[in-house]
Amino acid sequence: MVPTAAALNFVGRATWEALSHHPVATDVFTDAHEVPHVAIGRRADLVVVAPATADLLAKAAHGLADDLLTNTLLTARCPVLFAPAMHTEMWEHPATADNVALLRRRGATVLEPGVGRLTGSDTGKGRLPEPAEIARIAELLLHLGHGLPADLVGRHVVVTAGGTREALDPVRFLGNRSSGRQGFDLASVAAARGARVTLLAANVEAPPPAGTEVVNVISAEALREATHTAAKDADVVIMAAAVADFRPATVVEHKIKKSDADPEPLVLIRNPDILAELVEAKREGRLSALLVGFAAETGDAEADVISHGRAKLARKGCDLLVVNAVGEGKAFGQPDNAAVILGADGSETDIPLGPKTVLAAAICDAIVIRLTS
Ligand code: C5P
Repeated sequence: MVPTAAALNFVGRATWEALSHHPVATDVFTDAHEVPHVAIGRRADLVVVAPATADLLAKAAHGLADDLLTNTLLTARCPVLFAPAMHTEMWEHPATADNVALLRRRGATVLEPGVGRLTGSDTGKGRLPEPAEIARIAELLLHLGHGLPADLVGRHVVVTAGGTREALDPVRFLGNRSSGRQGFDLASVAAARGARVTLLAANVEAPPPAGTEVVNVISAEALREATHTAAKDADVVIMAAAVADFRPATVVEHKIKKSDADPEPLVLIRNPDILAELVEAKREGRLSALLVGFAAETGDAEADVISHGRAKLARKGCDLLVVNAVGEGKAFGQPDNAAVILGADGSETDIPLGPKTVLAAAICDAIVIRLTS
């Protein structure tokens, strides 16, 4: 831990030392015989600056080195992650915007700040991203060994996440086990790579990733409407949501009462396939977005998971299909995922079991290749 002198005004030295089990210093002259201003940066596999103030971003962008942290930033050759926190005016100031752009061009990963309550009574953009999100991106950078490229700048990426709920009555629904984790990680990584992200979230408990515009929906029909609206000017639509294929034919207006009589059989009708509608719109020239589908598959007596995936890609007509095996504790609600990314061009990319952010980064790689070719 390398606090700045300003950080010690918020969290005292004793807390830093007790939590890290190390003495902490803010200047380069403490323990000078160990040359800490060079040693810490050289030893690091990852540097995370959280919170990164406007002042710190400016110093980092211009290579100033007047304390231990800024010296460490100059000597580190590992990935560097900045999680900004400041007031809205400071984040939006052209000086900060230029500094952030410069840092990103140099390969540093600068997260977009969140929107919400700030240090004073004001609210707005500038909130420190959620610690869990900073940790997930930090884990991704350690895994990759390099920063995230700013290769989605100027692109509008729409991500659907979570699982739809189809109402039976005012309190009951048919749903599924999707946690929304994969979709949220996709949104988070796309935003960190510079995209404008619209996140259509169906019943996801996790806090939304910073720097994304979130639209909450419940049912497949609501998701359908939100997706078609957001897709109009999208460069990419990623359908990571688990959309219910069927819904109850009728929604009972009042709570269904418990009675001694046998329950009525449940009649289901088919939901529209949103992805298929997007493919159709693209064929008719009403949409230009790259379309990415997901297929959660289990093998069966007829074919394995990948063969089912290939058949689904052909049937769905999207540009990329991310195929993962589900069941027996795999994928749904788990932090890790393994998948194969199938391309309509015949490509096949295997992503071994790892954090969902790593799969998200690989999906973004596949997207960028297609957007730029
Ligand atoms: O056919 P299957 O449901 O397995 O296809 C999964 C893909 O299709 C996912 O990308 C999912 O988001 C999308 N889908 C959809 N509308 C539905 C069902 C699935 O867009 N009604």
